Amino acid sequence: EKGGFASFMDKEIHDQPQAVADTLLGRMDADGKLTLDEIHVDETILKSIDKMIVIACGTAAYAGQVAKYTIEHWCRIPVEVELAHEFRYRDPVVNEKTLVVAVSQSGETMDTIMAVRHARQQGAKVVAICNTYGSTIPRESDAALYTHAGPEVAVASTKAFLSQIVACYLLGLYLAQLRGNKFTDEVRVILDELQQIPEKIEKVLQLKEQVEQLARSVQNTQSVLFLGRHVGYPVALEGALKLKELAYIHAEGFAAGELKHGPIALIEDGQLVFIIVPSREGRDSLHAKVISNIQEVRARGANTIVIAEEGDEAVKEYASEVFYVPQTPTLLAPLLTTIPLQFFAMELATMKGLDVDQPRNLAKSVTVE
Ligand code: BG6
Repeated sequence: EKGGFASFMDKEIHDQPQAVADTLLGRMDADGKLTLDEIHVDETILKSIDKMIVIACGTAAYAGQVAKYTIEHWCRIPVEVELAHEFRYRDPVVNEKTLVVAVSQSGETMDTIMAVRHARQQGAKVVAICNTYGSTIPRESDAALYTHAGPEVAVASTKAFLSQIVACYLLGLYLAQLRGNKFTDEVRVILDELQQIPEKIEKVLQLKEQVEQLARSVQNTQSVLFLGRHVGYPVALEGALKLKELAYIHAEGFAAGELKHGPIALIEDGQLVFIIVPSREGRDSLHAKVISNIQEVRARGANTIVIAEEGDEAVKEYASEVFYVPQTPTLLAPLLTTIPLQFFAMELATMKGLDVDQPRNLAKSVTVE
């Protein structure tokens, strides 16, 4: 069942090119136009929405954070991302013009189910992004956009996460397409770039050995920090979550710009810090800022592990080690930069003799509130 891999997690990490390809499959017509037939919410309603709220828990909520950066950019609709259990127990401003997107691998997370019910009671339309056909969340939503990652067995989410990000892109691009021609060119470019992602993931999978060596050299580490900006920020959060879940190591993800407002006090000699560097394309100033963040932590003795795009020589000067991933538009980069972090958590857990598929105290789907 594990297809020759040591764990389901290892297999599922390697399933990611397929999971992404399958989630993209059949969602475009011959002219390259997106046709999300599953979204049978009235087009007039979709055109009139003035706010989106993504609700989810855990890893799925980080997919939602990636969605925020991309959908706001493509659609110019404000997007909020909220943990389902927080959304449910406050008094959110939701009405008929709100599109709520519930992201869930299992479709059975009780916190998310309750939030979906709450949103619909307030008159919002709900689209579920889900990996499990016929599960509760898509059944209780107005429409479902399925991720086609296939069954995910390991408790810690990997291929479902990447597929959720892809589904969020598709939804955002679809809304952009609906909202007018001026988006068309960019939609085309991004759709074309998305088709190339599975092949690029294959390349990132080749980093496994390099990650394994790194994990071996830091296997007694007690604390790991992850820094990212823009779409790299949710990737940093996901890297930290994976490490907590699998290796039971204290880990935190930060927005790199926040460093000087507090977290930099944590940096001391030998502190392991991962930095997710944005591409140089179109956002030069952001790239430069992250480079200076690496410099700042390095100057205080941090062991700086950098994830950057191929050809980015500027990162080398301050990096203890660089993991290069293929170039892709900034907004799509999480589909690549997440993978070394998945490997890192898996390798460290394996070296500590832990069960990577069934971490202690966790369940694949939490069906209680
Ligand atoms: C957690 C799982 O309990 O639930 C995570 O351990 C997952 O991996 C989260 O991200 C949300 O689950 P789901 O099924 O709603 O995506």
